Amino acid sequence: MNGTIFLKQEEVPLWNVPERSRRSTEFSLRVAEVVSALSHALDLGTGQPVGHSVRSCLLAMRLAEEIGLSKAMRKDLFYATLLKDAGCSTNASKMFHALGSDDIKAKRDVKLTDWTRTSWETVSYALQNVAPDKPLAQRVAALWRMARTSKQYSWEVTKIRCERGAAIARLVGLSEVTADGIASLDEHWNGEGQPQGLKKKEIPLLSRLMLLAQTLDIYFTARGATEAMQVARNRSGAWFEPDLVNAARSIEARGMLWADLSSEEVYDVALSMEPEPKEMQEDDQTFHSICVAFGQIVDSKSPFTFSHSENVANIAVTIGEKMFLDARRLRVLRNAALLHDLGKMGVSNQILEKPGELNEDEWRVMRLHPFYTWKILHAIPRFGELSEIAASHHEKLDGSGYFRGLADKQLSLEARILAVAEIFDGLAARTPYREPRSRKNALHVLHKEACHQLDPNCVAALEECADQLMS
Ligand SMILES: [Fe+2]
Ligand SMILES: [Fe+2]
Repeated sequence: MNGTIFLKQEEVPLWNVPERSRRSTEFSLRVAEVVSALSHALDLGTGQPVGHSVRSCLLAMRLAEEIGLSKAMRKDLFYATLLKDAGCSTNASKMFHALGSDDIKAKRDVKLTDWTRTSWETVSYALQNVAPDKPLAQRVAALWRMARTSKQYSWEVTKIRCERGAAIARLVGLSEVTADGIASLDEHWNGEGQPQGLKKKEIPLLSRLMLLAQTLDIYFTARGATEAMQVARNRSGAWFEPDLVNAARSIEARGMLWADLSSEEVYDVALSMEPEPKEMQEDDQTFHSICVAFGQIVDSKSPFTFSHSENVANIAVTIGEKMFLDARRLRVLRNAALLHDLGKMGVSNQILEKPGELNEDEWRVMRLHPFYTWKILHAIPRFGELSEIAASHHEKLDGSGYFRGLADKQLSLEARILAVAEIFDGLAARTPYREPRSRKNALHVLHKEACHQLDPNCVAALEECADQLMS
């Protein structure tokens, strides 16, 4: 079918994690299960193999136990590590424009570079990630510009990421200790980190633990245990607190540091380290705040998607109310709408902000995003219905949509409503190649161009409540 993609495992290389076993009880959700699954969106945004946040959490909790961290601090550390990259989308657009390259690749590569020292590693990073596809003269100019401004650039992208990450932690109701830990994640023991240049014990303990844990996972996953420990030893006293590196070495000597990290059990083992598991109901404010927060994380990736998830949620719920959906169905619809574009975290800003038509390869990547949304949400217990609605937002009644080419009766009413809300907000938004339309004009275009692919009842409901949405 036109526009449909059929995926083989090798086409989604970042996603090689096993399905998780489901533990939540019928009437409640375990907060850690929801947050750990949603952390996969952050892994996509940082270019890390999916599961990085969860594996970092497991390593951080092992280090915490080794140094005898209090239960209260371990509770904060657990969620801080799962959400340590919550600010990663805020600097994506800035990185793309500054480097002139794929922001996700640049983020992945920088994590395998000691950027604090000028070396073959940093030169190689610059050659690979600064304007790599541009003609030679432009490339040289971009490299020269970056060489002169790299300190300021690096400070700015780190600062906005850290501040936004902390703000997201506060938004979902986590403690100030958790938020502070995320805000100082990139500070180094020797004071050469960013954004504040904090030194030694000025750096929150949670940040010191998380920096070591995430670096261990990144090198372990990319290059193996031996190199991961070598990096920890080499950077001891520079990036990392020496006592924490010694703690890692002690755990490794007992054969426990890397245990379960590559196994199917990694999620269950990581979740078993939560000191006091918390449950929430589907209609809890906590759950709603988590969905709002992840919608904001996705929307922050590009100025062209500013407020998109929130707008789509409001439009979809307004249509749903017009069509007399009950309170539970409206709640599921709102949360599905807030989370519908989670998979866009895995799409480079080179594509999201391209000022023109996407080529075939770029479309292939773009069409993956609802698939990633589905993979992230489907893994959460009791999210079956929500994941189907969210991941169907680019499907069309005639089967020409993506990623599965579903048609007609395969699409629930909520999925049809979401598709209408998605197109309506997209038509009104500013894009890299067009100024924003008024909502009135967007409605006119939607009616004229897309009506045969959308549910006419949903379009009619949108038209009936148009005044409400335009006010
Ligand atoms: Fe969308
Ligand atoms: Fe989308």
